[in-house]
Amino acid sequence: MDVSSFHAITQAVKGAFLVLTALSLTAYKWPENKTVKDLSTCDFVIVGAGTAGSIIANRLSEDPGVKVCVIEAGGDPPLESEIPSLFAFLTKTSIDWNLTSEDDGFTAQYRTNKYLDLSTGKVLGGSSTINHLYHVRGDPKDYDDWAKASGDESWSWQNLLPYFVRSEHLEDEYILNSETGKYHGTNGYLRLTRENRDSPLKYLKAFKEMGHKIVEDVNAGETLGFTRPLLSISGGVRQSSASSYLTPIKDRQNLYIVKNTMVTKIIFNGNKQATGVQCTTSDGNAFAINTQKEVIISAGAFNTPKLLMLSGIGPTDHLNNLGIEVLSDLPVGQNLQDHMAVILIHKLEATTETPPAADPTKFPLPTFIGFGAVNKSQSYPDYMTSNVISRNSPDVLMQLCSSVFALHDDVCSQIYAAGVDREVLFTVINVVRPISRGHVELRSANPEDSPRIYTGFLSADADITKFIDSIEDYISVTESDYFRNVNGETMYFNFPNCDDVSNARAYWRCYILNMMDTTFHYSGTCAMGSVLDSSLRVKGVSKLRVVDASAMPNIVSSNINSAVIVLAEKAADLIKHSQTCA
Ligand SMILES: Cc1cc2nc3c(=O)[nH]c(=O)nc-3n(C[C@H](O)[C@H](O)[C@H](O)COP(=O)(O)OP(=O)(O)OC[C@H]3O[C@@H](n4cnc5c(N)ncnc54)[C@H](O)[C@@H]3O)c2cc1C
Ligand SMILES: *[C@@H]1O[C@H](CO)[C@@H](O)[C@H](O)[C@H]1NC(C)=O
Ligand SMILES: *[C@@H]1O[C@H](CO)[C@@H](O)[C@H](O)[C@H]1NC(C)=O
Ligand SMILES: *[C@@H]1O[C@H](CO)[C@@H](O)[C@H](O)[C@H]1NC(C)=O
Repeated sequence: MDVSSFHAITQAVKGAFLVLTALSLTAYKWPENKTVKDLSTCDFVIVGAGTAGSIIANRLSEDPGVKVCVIEAGGDPPLESEIPSLFAFLTKTSIDWNLTSEDDGFTAQYRTNKYLDLSTGKVLGGSSTINHLYHVRGDPKDYDDWAKASGDESWSWQNLLPYFVRSEHLEDEYILNSETGKYHGTNGYLRLTRENRDSPLKYLKAFKEMGHKIVEDVNAGETLGFTRPLLSISGGVRQSSASSYLTPIKDRQNLYIVKNTMVTKIIFNGNKQATGVQCTTSDGNAFAINTQKEVIISAGAFNTPKLLMLSGIGPTDHLNNLGIEVLSDLPVGQNLQDHMAVILIHKLEATTETPPAADPTKFPLPTFIGFGAVNKSQSYPDYMTSNVISRNSPDVLMQLCSSVFALHDDVCSQIYAAGVDREVLFTVINVVRPISRGHVELRSANPEDSPRIYTGFLSADADITKFIDSIEDYISVTESDYFRNVNGETMYFNFPNCDDVSNARAYWRCYILNMMDTTFHYSGTCAMGSVLDSSLRVKGVSKLRVVDASAMPNIVSSNINSAVIVLAEKAADLIKHSQTCA
């Protein structure tokens, strides 16, 4: 199959899903839409019913005496978003904000467009409704660094553990009955299972032979090693924040969710106290909501800084240039962090067996993850890898290469060809604690305009060096018995802009620039310590908090959804506690 026929098929599939959506087959699962007149006054307004917003909505509305209003720009999750094997079909649809990065003239040059698609969910559950289902907490050091940056020990790994436990309903008996069982919960809202297919096992052994550990549970304080990951899948269905935290409480009388409505501005009184929000419905009607208690922004790492800046909270120069009056001069939008992805491909044993029929209830193909350190005496990781095993399933390789990571058509056709009659290992490798920082700005003072996003990827040369070291460490697995026995080999692509590759490190430097994308872990744009205090309150104003991926001072060393969840669980307690003390 060539890339253009692949894209034609993908479009047809998305078209078929649209027909299904019109039938509203799963509407019964989601909270009903409230009307604007129900909202004249609320105790709390939450902006965004995404990953964090759904959790805050659930926890604050536990008290029936508190009126909680949630404004969400998107609508109900469509049926296909609930089917784990279909995540490649969810982006560039009506539930994606379709944000893109600015062309930096350096990264993203070897692609159809010289920018990256920064997919972000515009739907109940937010990005947890379209993400790739990996549930990994990251490394204890990440959270200890949050505590340092915020000057507040309560954000340390040890002190956050009870919130990780509280959020979970782990369904994996093996882990629950093992020594690390105590690090997990079975009474929480979020149901989790584990990749249980066998084909990753031979790879885990191969990495063990190269000196890595096989760990059964990377979420219990020891991160380094290779494992079959936990996934936010239960009963064969995606567990987004919407399905886990909103569906079970959708009939609470004090919870008011308004869908397809965008918050355009935070309203303040003369004392810089947030008193409500300004909204616009999808059909263009504007209205305002007043709050008795607080406004909580959970619009995600791009739309949260955008909304703060539109409301006068941000860098003075930037806001002055757009004619926005400044209420609080803060580095909003700075400190953008993400995990840049580099794609690596290995070809393994020949196989002519018919691939098993795709199982809609599972991750698209068997998967394993691994954390490695370049310095072998270091206790925390330098890199993470997410690996997918294709056994004669080139169609899925094409989905990953072309739809998910949008690599160049030439590369994707070569990967597709490699995947016919052969086992292929598709790997995403990330430097987990990058030094490079990006930033987010307003494009204009018009709330309809998307923000300007500069990823800053690889702007620190040390990140390139770290990528090269990490790749070399990872691909040494080709020296393991298993890889040797099946003639396992790394695919070295010929890039038109890489003629001058005199040595291996020069080749990898060029490779990294050609085989890169985002891993969608945008964070840090309204960080604790600089924009927020350690109770997530926006500095310089009152009655306003930020609770989402923007609040992380430093990105965690893994996929970040689990970190967003724990941040929201803790924030809910902080908010409740400040109300009883007020
Ligand atoms: C394609 C993809 C794959 C990923 N894969 C993984 C993975 O496998 N594992 C993992 O751990 N993480 C993954 N992530 C990352 C993770 O899902 C996100 O970091 C996390 O969901 C972000 O949560 P949030 O609450 O900060 O924002 P979101 O969940 O994005 O929520 C923000 C919400 O606010 C709404 N909103 C925004 N602006 C407004 C406004 N002005 N008015 C009203 N509503 C508004 C949005 O519509 C959205 O619902 C992935 C992300 C993506 C996009
Ligand atoms: C995103 O783009 C797709 C087409 O590429 C479009 O169908 C969809 O409506 C867009 N999403 C939004 C929220 O505008
Ligand atoms: C929900 O209500 C808002 C405000 O009345 C309206 O604009 C929006 O279209 C409604 N959404 C749905 C899915 O009914
Ligand atoms: C490797 O890690 C150890 C333990 O943290 C440290 O003491 C040492 O300086 C590191 N070596 C290098 C080359 O960074």
